[in-house]
Amino acid sequence: MHDAPGSDPLALLVSWHQEALKIGAREPDAMTLATATRDGRPSARVVLFKGLSAGRLQFVTHYSSRKGREIEANPQVALVFFWPELMRQVRIEGRAARASAAESDAYFRSRPRESQLGAWASAQSAVVASRAALLQRFAEAEARFAGREVDRPPEWGLYQVEAERVELWLSAPHRLHDRFAYSRDGAAWQLERLCP
Ligand SMILES: Cc1cc2nc3c(=O)[nH]c(=O)nc-3n(C[C@H](O)[C@H](O)[C@H](O)COP(=O)(O)O)c2cc1C
Repeated sequence: MHDAPGSDPLALLVSWHQEALKIGAREPDAMTLATATRDGRPSARVVLFKGLSAGRLQFVTHYSSRKGREIEANPQVALVFFWPELMRQVRIEGRAARASAAESDAYFRSRPRESQLGAWASAQSAVVASRAALLQRFAEAEARFAGREVDRPPEWGLYQVEAERVELWLSAPHRLHDRFAYSRDGAAWQLERLCP
């Protein structure tokens, strides 16, 4: 049986993520991001965890995508990590906001050139006529930035999620799994154990 794992759920998230990396878990960065329209219609998809910045969980995307539009209208989001190799889950609820342009620029510069051009080629979530049309847009971006650094598309960047609630779930025998629910309480976190 597991005792309460600690007072800072974000430190625990980072340590579980590192453990998943260390054991060679498949897609250790993958997290499901749920957003909702202003009137509460949900949608979910997988994005990649890009680490914490000042205690906020980061991912990168197109601000004009469906998820981006939903976040702009309703910043309340949920995130779920599941590492099957560890049989552990982390659920996060909080508010998403765009990172500063400087932070998104810095991250964009760290990407391989082909990914940078791909960001220009895709109007994420918009209808595209064919794969050929997508490749054509990639070629146009290549031509546009030939011989120079690729600028960050203004509609592409980091979001940062300020967690308000974090739940750590660990598998345990007899379906008596451990659930530790943390809610923000000012600067600290309030911890409750939940029934599985
Ligand atoms: C393993 C995996 C990782 C992904 N990582 C990202 C990501 O980091 N950012 C992103 O915008 N989309 C990522 N996607 C694609 C999204 O799941 C989704 O298809 C896309 O962002 C469009 O979503 P939307 O139309 O709801 O905005 C990933 C998909 C998979 C399966």
